[in-house]
Amino acid sequence: NPRPYAIDTLISAKAIAARVESLAREISEFYQGTEKLVVVGLLRGSFIFIADLVREIDLPIEVDFLEASSYGNAMESSREVRILKDLRGEIEGRDVLVVEDIIDTGFTLSHVLAILRTRRPRRLEVCALLDKPSRREVAVDARWIGFEIPDRFVVGYGIDYGQRNRNLPFIGAVRFAEHS
Ligand code: PRP
Ligand code: MN
Ligand code: MG
Repeated sequence: NPRPYAIDTLISAKAIAARVESLAREISEFYQGTEKLVVVGLLRGSFIFIADLVREIDLPIEVDFLEASSYGNAMESSREVRILKDLRGEIEGRDVLVVEDIIDTGFTLSHVLAILRTRRPRRLEVCALLDKPSRREVAVDARWIGFEIPDRFVVGYGIDYGQRNRNLPFIGAVRFAEHS
């Protein structure tokens, strides 16, 4: 069990909803005229974001998932990304949008993008809800970012700490009680 912690609200549910709506509008414009957009969610962290985002996208879409894991139960990236579940569908020649909850070191996304690129999608873009640029170790090119955040360990809206707190409707920052 983790030591006790409090959660400070960093981004409210209302602020997230407003940002998701405007991201979806930009995405719908960018891909206007596409035959079909394949929206790929990275499990598990992106499950709430992708659910809210696709409901605001005004395009013909297909939803697929890929499961990647690098943190396990730790607070620090293992920098070793494991693909635990691959896409169901083919993406060759398709418009593909990868949806991620957060970019931290960048290892997860750069690994996933490298794999997807070998399958020759027509266009491959990224939409991440959160970006922690101060922690980046590997460059990642994300066309859409919801919010830049400071270097705090965040939970909620899909994001976990040791598999907990994914169900919080807002983004919170973990704060440990000071011990004497
Ligand atoms: C977290 C988060 C991102 C990734 C970001 O996933 O959801 O996918 O780490 O970190 P990085 O930029 O340093 O790679 P995690 O490995 O915890 O799996 P989960 O989504 O199942 O929680
Ligand atoms: Mn993840
Ligand atoms: Mg995690």
